[in-house]
Amino acid sequence: MMRRCVALLGAHTLGRTRPEASGYRGPWVPGQDHLDNRYFVDMAEIARWNQINVGGQGDDARWQYDDGRGHMMLNSDMCFAKDIQPDEEGRVTQSLNNIGDSSTASRVVLYASNNNQWLTDFGAVFTKMIDNVDDDLELPSADSVEEITVAPTQAPGGGGGGGDGGRNGGGRVGRRPGRREMAEVLHLMAELLDTEK
Ligand code: HEM
Repeated sequence: MMRRCVALLGAHTLGRTRPEASGYRGPWVPGQDHLDNRYFVDMAEIARWNQINVGGQGDDARWQYDDGRGHMMLNSDMCFAKDIQPDEEGRVTQSLNNIGDSSTASRVVLYASNNNQWLTDFGAVFTKMIDNVDDDLELPSADSVEEITVAPTQAPGGGGGGGDGGRNGGGRVGRRPGRREMAEVLHLMAELLDTEK
């Protein structure tokens, strides 16, 4: 099960975090306009990452990994490579180099070195998720979505080309999931974790 979660999170090769939404800052992979294993390539280079707080104190803290080159990772990403034990604020005081590998670290290394393997595994688990969408799934109402929605990430290269700049690509690979799809995806991940330990 965890292996499928690793494959799924490779979707973070696309898109970004935003201060006004999650409170985190920046993209996992800057300037990325297509789906590939870049997320894993970056993650596998453990020495490049340092944790910084881009938020405030206490509940407002937002600890994220930063490489000084505009790439970022969350604890929920890095846990696939390292056995991190964040404190209540999400801070990991030890250097990643001194922390042991997590049980999925070999998958990270595999996907970092083999894009085709990752694409195959990602395709399979993403399809499984989409196929399993439950009609009774409780999704945010249109009103609440409207309230929390911020402008989508601008497609690299200005976003004007290709009609809609790739924002409504009709399901083609590389399309960014909207908030509604993210909610579905997260519900399904939770469901999978529950039923397939
Ligand atoms: C443990 C599960 C996950 C966590 C904790 C997580 C966390 C996040 C966070 C914090 C953001 C930034 C939100 C913002 O500030 O606007 C984000 C964005 C994103 N996530 Fe995830 N995510 C998870 C699973 C997934 C999955 C399963 C997919 C797709 C298969 C996915 C695809 C994306 C994409 C494409 C974005 C960028 C959206 C944009 O640019 O507007 N995530 N995720």
